[in-house]
Amino acid sequence: MTASSTQSPATVVAVPLGARSYDIHVGRGLLTRAAALMTPVLSQKRVFIVTDSNVAPLYLEAFSQTLAKAGIRADHAIVPAGEASKDFPHLQHLLDSMLAAKCERGTMIVALGGGVIGDLAGFAASVLLRGVDFIQVPTTLLSQVDSSVGGKTGINTGAGKNLVGTFHQPRLVIADTDVLASLPRRELLAGYAEVAKYGLLGDAKFWAWLEDNAAAMLSTDTRSHDLLRRAIVTSCEAKARIVAADEKEGGVRALLNLGHTFGHALEAEMGYGDRLLHGEAVSIGMTLAFELSARLGHCPAPDASRVAAHLAAVGLPTRPPRNGPRGAVTAAMLMAHMSQDKKMKDGAVTFVLARRIGDAFLSRDVPAPTLEATLTAALAG
Ligand code: GLY
Repeated sequence: MTASSTQSPATVVAVPLGARSYDIHVGRGLLTRAAALMTPVLSQKRVFIVTDSNVAPLYLEAFSQTLAKAGIRADHAIVPAGEASKDFPHLQHLLDSMLAAKCERGTMIVALGGGVIGDLAGFAASVLLRGVDFIQVPTTLLSQVDSSVGGKTGINTGAGKNLVGTFHQPRLVIADTDVLASLPRRELLAGYAEVAKYGLLGDAKFWAWLEDNAAAMLSTDTRSHDLLRRAIVTSCEAKARIVAADEKEGGVRALLNLGHTFGHALEAEMGYGDRLLHGEAVSIGMTLAFELSARLGHCPAPDASRVAAHLAAVGLPTRPPRNGPRGAVTAAMLMAHMSQDKKMKDGAVTFVLARRIGDAFLSRDVPAPTLEATLTAALAG
């Protein structure tokens, strides 16, 4: 980390939620300044850090030392990296560790990691001693632009992903863009799908900016912190606006699920893990959502083509995998997964469709034959 990076100013995005309001700090070198950022929201000089086996060797020691220098005692727990840690046994183990460390109501839980750590640590914080505060320190692009903001926490069960959880807002989010340098390119691209989502669902200008700048932003040679920071800040501002308007997803927040109904079906079919990352499933899902919208006559076909072309150009998948662990993937298999979606209301699946790039809307009125035709065409393509 260079001296100039630690001196760059951070951008602060506010999430206005009354008594539960908090700030998202985005910028370079923020891990080294974490103690100063955290101190105003600590009620005791004590934190419990939750991290995973990938992140711990990279950042845990330096992060804990930064806190120690400011007189903040830090206990920690390291969970195995990966989605499998978001389950009841790991939650129980984590809560037992927090209690064994004699965490008190004033002890701040710190989630240092990607989406799995944020969801698991946030859930643990929301039930420990009937609820303690937590801070998100997201270390992946996906968690910096989406999962660390908005207070969704939870674990997976045999019945599906994120089916047990809480809304528990963090007290602070610290998104250090320097940590993205250690992110494998595939993970960076998967996070980029969620960045692109904000353009597609509500900001055509941002989408056009991404079309012009994504290649430079994501390339290993030219990767630019300023471009990345601008993309992260714009994404967080969009998410903050939506969460402030609809914290518990009674309406507009559901737009954040653009591409996710298709995406979750694909993830369920492929098995959660390396075969298809969440962001990759969302990329395919957003492409399908635009193709479905065009097929239903809601959206011009050239917009759907533009979505697929850009996502493919940056290196994201836009077509469903033809084969999965159960053999050939069919439209019927994916539709069966969709009918189990947790966003079902009165037995109908809610889709996020689009009128054009930058103008998404919710629909529970998608005829099964049109859905099937969209999926069949995509699987053949
Ligand atoms: N990731 C979707 C949401 O936070 O609502």
